[in-house]
Amino acid sequence: MEIERVKDVYAVHSHFYDSIFGRLYAPGRLAAIRLMDIRPGQEILEVGVGTGVSLPHYPKHARVVGIDVSKEMLAKAEERKTSLGLSNVEVYEMDAGKMDFPDKRFDKVIAAHVISVVPEPLKVIKEMKRVCKDGGEVYILNYVNASNGVIAWFERQFSPIRKALGLGKDVDFEAIIKEAGLSIDHVEKVNVLGLCRLIKCRKAIP
Ligand SMILES: C[S@@+](CC[C@H](N)C(=O)[O-])C[C@H]1O[C@@H](n2cnc3c(N)ncnc32)[C@H](O)[C@@H]1O
Repeated sequence: MEIERVKDVYAVHSHFYDSIFGRLYAPGRLAAIRLMDIRPGQEILEVGVGTGVSLPHYPKHARVVGIDVSKEMLAKAEERKTSLGLSNVEVYEMDAGKMDFPDKRFDKVIAAHVISVVPEPLKVIKEMKRVCKDGGEVYILNYVNASNGVIAWFERQFSPIRKALGLGKDVDFEAIIKEAGLSIDHVEKVNVLGLCRLIKCRKAIP
């Protein structure tokens, strides 16, 4: 999807995102935040933060920065920040493919259900790596197509509809993580039927 199409799609999704995908993907987001094991004073970046469904679940002792390209999704995240008094959170309109942040700013960087909808997944993972500290962690949480069996058959039937609705494309996560120069520390299946993967990657200390 081109970035303008992403913006159009999520302007529409913003009206119903929380009631469908907010709930559907809730267990995986909580698993990701648990796995991140965030320590006091650490600074976290969530790229493609959307309506900010995960924001209340981060520990208050950490600073959390969320970015997104969709004004409409971000408006909901801002509303959530204000209504819940999340003073440890900041959200900005920014493209994850070319972020304004300096190199090595964040302790941990996460993209939840984002990499399969961005126009250039490798470019985004490289940017996530760039803004992550040496020795820091990059987390990717995403729906991953089944390779065989009944679920794979259903996915093939549903694939054109999925693309048309802007629900994302199939991505070879292992290949692009490797190409970005990150190493994979941990992978787990999360969400309904284990259809999503939570991948913890590390940025090496040179
Ligand atoms: C499926 S939603 C995921 C929202 C949230 N992370 C969650 O867990 O539900 C994908 C989000 O990624 C955002 N997005 C897509 N491409 C982006 C990009 N290049 N830079 C920043 N955000 C992007 C969309 O606007 C949308 O809010």
